[in-house]
Amino acid sequence: MREEGWQAYLACVEELLRAPQVQAMREIRHHPGVSCYEHSVFVSYTAFRLAEKWGADSRSAARAGLLHDLYLYDPKSLPSYKQCFAHPVAALRNAAQLCGELTAAEADGILCHMWPMARHIPRCREAAAVCLADKLCATAEVLQIWRRSALRVKCVHFM
Ligand SMILES: [Fe+2]
Ligand SMILES: [Fe+2]
Repeated sequence: MREEGWQAYLACVEELLRAPQVQAMREIRHHPGVSCYEHSVFVSYTAFRLAEKWGADSRSAARAGLLHDLYLYDPKSLPSYKQCFAHPVAALRNAAQLCGELTAAEADGILCHMWPMARHIPRCREAAAVCLADKLCATAEVLQIWRRSALRVKCVHFM
């Protein structure tokens, strides 16, 4: 992982990373051994890099990736089929409260990240980057690839 790539990424999200609501995701378990915060940074950085490659707005992709799972409740409080549809809506509401204003690409990226399980289809490349990054990162987390990544070290020790 190149340091200049990490710095370019941080320039897009550093303020959000320091927000108490984003840091609160450290306390929410996502996959075994992976917090919602770690997953969100992983998705955010991956979406940022995908958007760069696709010539899309990498800042919106990074920010939507970081906020896509900002639902801020215990996911076990809902049956999994309800959680699948409810959590992007909760994340969008919390993200709008945190940021005041979201770009259309950021809102789309948050709301549509569960496609095709949920019915909202990504309508821009930034949202497609978040949606694809979410699947790639979830797979890497389940396969334990994330545990050994340099990004995890930077992410866990940020702040
Ligand atoms: Fe999600
Ligand atoms: Fe996710």
